[in-house]
Amino acid sequence: MRLFIAIELPEDVKRILGRMCSDIPGARWVAPEQLHLTLSFLGELDEAAMKRLDGELAGIQAPGFDLHFAGTGCFPNRRQPRVLWVGLEPEPLLNSLAALVRKAVLACDIPQEDRPFSAHITLARLKFPASHEVAAFLDQSQKQKLPTVSVREFVLFQSRLTPDGAIHTPIRSFQLV
Ligand code: 2AM
Repeated sequence: MRLFIAIELPEDVKRILGRMCSDIPGARWVAPEQLHLTLSFLGELDEAAMKRLDGELAGIQAPGFDLHFAGTGCFPNRRQPRVLWVGLEPEPLLNSLAALVRKAVLACDIPQEDRPFSAHITLARLKFPASHEVAAFLDQSQKQKLPTVSVREFVLFQSRLTPDGAIHTPIRSFQLV
């Protein structure tokens, strides 16, 4: 199974984020119901690895926290934008949760990228860098107001790739304390 670990967003937040899509050539906007904050991408895991991971994730003891949204941005930069995202105010408890998840994943010998965790919610992926339209989008979306999100769990998701895009299904959630 192709899996990832993420924080699910409330319906009202997904609805508002979903309405932010604009007319950018080559942009594939994430469907509102699929929007999430990725903590770790796992790739394909077999049953044995999943079982081991389940045990490691269940052992995580971390407190819940609130997330405050902080404007939009793009990866890797404004000249060659490939991913449009909405960012979050720095939250040390989110960073420590991401670090605990990473440790649990590495303990199962599942490889992880070396780059540091950068909290974001992907809104769109771009087939080519339409930098003018992206600049306009980033300028006009900067002030979008979003409600605070109270995070009390994280979720193991399955991602099934289909010709119409990925379909994400929650497999199991893990409560924060
Ligand atoms: P994202 O949060 O930046 O969008 C599920 O596929 C999630 O895992 C995506 O939302 C994506 O990140 C993240 N991810 C990280 N590395 C990935 C990879 N190599 N392939 C697919 N998804 C990846």
